[in-house]
Amino acid sequence: MKTMALANQKGGVGKSFVATQLAFFLAERGKRVLHLDLDHQRNSSVPLIKSGLARLAGCAASDVLQGPVTALIDFPFVVVSGDVRLSGLERQPEHHNSYVANLRGFLDAVGAQFDVCVIDTNPNPDIRYAAALICADCVLSPVQLNQEALDGIGSLLRHPRYGVHKVRDLMNPKLDLIGLLPNMVEATPFQRANLTQLLQAHPQLLISLPGELLRYAFIQTRTAIAEAQAAGVPLWQLRHASVSGQGKVGAGSLRTAAREAWREVRPVFEEIERRIFKEA
Ligand SMILES: Nc1ncnc2c1ncn2[C@@H]1O[C@H](COP(=O)(O)OP(=O)(O)OP(=O)(O)O)[C@@H](O)[C@H]1O
Ligand SMILES: [Mg+2]
Repeated sequence: MKTMALANQKGGVGKSFVATQLAFFLAERGKRVLHLDLDHQRNSSVPLIKSGLARLAGCAASDVLQGPVTALIDFPFVVVSGDVRLSGLERQPEHHNSYVANLRGFLDAVGAQFDVCVIDTNPNPDIRYAAALICADCVLSPVQLNQEALDGIGSLLRHPRYGVHKVRDLMNPKLDLIGLLPNMVEATPFQRANLTQLLQAHPQLLISLPGELLRYAFIQTRTAIAEAQAAGVPLWQLRHASVSGQGKVGAGSLRTAAREAWREVRPVFEEIERRIFKEA
């Protein structure tokens, strides 16, 4: 099993959107997917559970850290939901080492049952965030193209305790930074200038896409993305609500806007899948 964490200490950049929709995508591709939501806001576990495609594990994320949890229900798409007790773990520093050991033990114990574990993290650099980076094989960081978020990239990489470089040097030499994924990109001169600045400052951190032209992965602001998250459906399955003669609301036709959004997101997710599994 490969374990990928979504991480950025900046809030609201799209970690939960990518975690949710990537989990849907990998499951659709036939991968056995375990989703672990380390954020008590549950912004990725809720849509995954709502979809009916994934099954809820019998334990919550805080149980995994407080451990030991060594077994899960037998199903190819399982969600370990975030829960409120997660936010109290930071106040128990005497247990922090065991939280990391328990997460590692859990991932080892269930590793044969899944192909990939997607971990959604909370935006504060705390023990949950640290445990995810210490135990993951790779990390993907959605970012926004505003100045504040760009300044935050330094902290993502070089935070004195939880920066990706620090974690790799001291605790997890296998940690591979898949890259930065600009999200909620708008076609404004301001954002274009920030993208240019990002390319100049960290060209190796952007995710290049295969093809003849040099293109970097990014995702635009698309209302259909927020709607798919709210509805708890894969983006490529977002439909219009249709009202029948009896006033019943059902699933109508596929939405054009969602199809267009998916046309952009799909090659990005395909490349991320290749990088998770290190496929040529
Ligand atoms: N490309 C996009 N286009 C439109 N809406 C988006 C896009 N990406 C994310 N969103 C929406 O923006 C909001 C914030 O995204 P999300 O919850 O994924 O961010 P986050 O980084 O997980 O936030 P937090 O740090 O609070 O966990 C959500 O309502 C989400 O549906
Ligand atoms: Mg989130």
